[in-house]
Amino acid sequence: SKNLNIAVLPGDGIGPEIVEQALNVTKAICNKFGHTLTYEYAIVGACAIDSVGEPYPKATHDLCMKSDAVLFGAIGDPKYDNNPAAKVRPEQGLLKMRKDLGLYANIRPVTTFPSLIHKSPLRADLVDGADFMCIRELTGGMYFGRPQGRSEDGNTAYDTCVYTREEVERILHLAYKYAGQRNKKVTVVDKANVLATSRLWRQIAQEIAPQYPDIETEYMFVDNAAMRIIQWPKSFDVLVTENLFGDILTDEASVITGSLGMLPSASVGIHTSVFEPIHGSYPQAAGKNIANPLATILSAALMFEYAFGMMEEGALIREAVAASMAAGIVTEDIADNAKAYKTSEVGEWIVNYIAK
Ligand code: IPM
Ligand code: MN
Repeated sequence: SKNLNIAVLPGDGIGPEIVEQALNVTKAICNKFGHTLTYEYAIVGACAIDSVGEPYPKATHDLCMKSDAVLFGAIGDPKYDNNPAAKVRPEQGLLKMRKDLGLYANIRPVTTFPSLIHKSPLRADLVDGADFMCIRELTGGMYFGRPQGRSEDGNTAYDTCVYTREEVERILHLAYKYAGQRNKKVTVVDKANVLATSRLWRQIAQEIAPQYPDIETEYMFVDNAAMRIIQWPKSFDVLVTENLFGDILTDEASVITGSLGMLPSASVGIHTSVFEPIHGSYPQAAGKNIANPLATILSAALMFEYAFGMMEEGALIREAVAASMAAGIVTEDIADNAKAYKTSEVGEWIVNYIAK
């Protein structure tokens, strides 16, 4: 048994409701396995702008730095979306957190759930059994490259895509590490026929691939990858790519499993890892107790596995989630015909399952 010390960052919109359930599940697991849990809350996103004027305050960063893991909800508020004049935005908080914690890899496992396959926009035979992992580079590329801005007359805008050898090497090694634990295939996604940064990625990938002789390496242009994800999702094992391509491809990949409300993610790197659902803050549902907590609860499972190396604990969370789905104890986004349950009811059912 261990002492786990986590930072809890609920964020905006439905964040507080879903994080509450994931925290209850975390507590239930700690009780079951005899771990002690200490946790502390901090603000991030629009709620942080509203209360202290910045989206990722120093106090929040300090808490993350001294914690063993961060459980994160969602950020974003519609009042900022259509206001180009807003100088500070909730999203800057997320980017600053990633950069300051050195979270260079965002790991998004794409798995299907048998009871959800009929909700997929793809034919069941294409998605049934699909199981791959997207590894998105998270602290480089166009999101952070400078210069970024506008010409003085305001009529020209520019972003800069930058990657260094070190950034590319570390994420590729991570991809090979995970492929080694999975089905031994890495797909390197780039646009090397057009972009200089992509040519660097591909060159480095070609240097690194021979160091992993038992792993197959496949190179794919991003436009082709976008097509292959919907055409033949089962052909992927570990897909690794740069920041912006990864942002786009993981939204695409997530929905083929049936619901965006199901998929967790882990952001890992130099300092404390962050675990969060891949969906956003769903402001229309905030405060209504209707949002699907499963992606956040599954993020807690990733936290046990990736941050604490506690595989049994993670597995029990997954088992409980599967059981709740099989029993039809699910929120409205994935309930069909049957009664829809509240966010808190789903969480409580899972907590009881774990405790019994
Ligand atoms: C994500 C989100 C963020 C991103 C936004 C909110 C800045 O879309 O985590 O995928 O683009 O990285
Ligand atoms: Mn995104």
